[in-house]
Amino acid sequence: MSASKINVAKQAISFIQDKLTPSMILGIGTGSTVNCFIEELSEFSHLFKGAVSSSNASSELLQSKGIEVFNLNDVNGIEFYIDGADEVDKNNNLIKGGGAAHTREKIVASAAQDFICIVDESKLVEKLGAFPLPVEVIPESRSLVARRIVALGGIPELRVGVMTDQGNQILDVTGLDLSNPEEIELKLNSFAGVVDNGIFSFEKPSLVLVSEI
Ligand code: A5P
Repeated sequence: MSASKINVAKQAISFIQDKLTPSMILGIGTGSTVNCFIEELSEFSHLFKGAVSSSNASSELLQSKGIEVFNLNDVNGIEFYIDGADEVDKNNNLIKGGGAAHTREKIVASAAQDFICIVDESKLVEKLGAFPLPVEVIPESRSLVARRIVALGGIPELRVGVMTDQGNQILDVTGLDLSNPEEIELKLNSFAGVVDNGIFSFEKPSLVLVSEI
């Protein structure tokens, strides 16, 4: 675990610590930064009810730390969603999905009142797009979606050997102009067979916490 990830995880703990209540359900993202957050959070597990998780990996880690994991269908609301990102621009638009979990991450983020994004400064960018954009596709539609992405000017590459928690595949896309992230997020999701893509321009964080590397 890197010091910068632990540092930003501690910043998030400081932010939510005095806001935790016995009935509170937290939303938990996925990735190495979130793993640091879960480690730090485990000390405070007696101060909130439990968590809704965005991936099987995070669920396992949460449970191993004694934090109860709830299905999103069984909770009324989530106050805070805490997650990392692969890129963050100056308007808090994100690219996520480096860990193939962006579909459920976006769902849980959308259910939360506040999304707190935790990153080290290497994730901050002027403009989205240096990080390949993950697109989750239903396996049968992979080639069809890939051709549509090429027609849009993108270069899709199958993430070999990776299956999402939902049993789908990931195309990592480079070459698209992401200067209007809302437009591309909607456009990609309009292709039949796309489950969701890793642009977060509608479910943006209300707070981005940043640590030095
Ligand atoms: C998971 O699919 C991603 O969206 C992660 O949130 C993102 O890749 C950040 O991960 P790290 O904290 O490991 O950099």
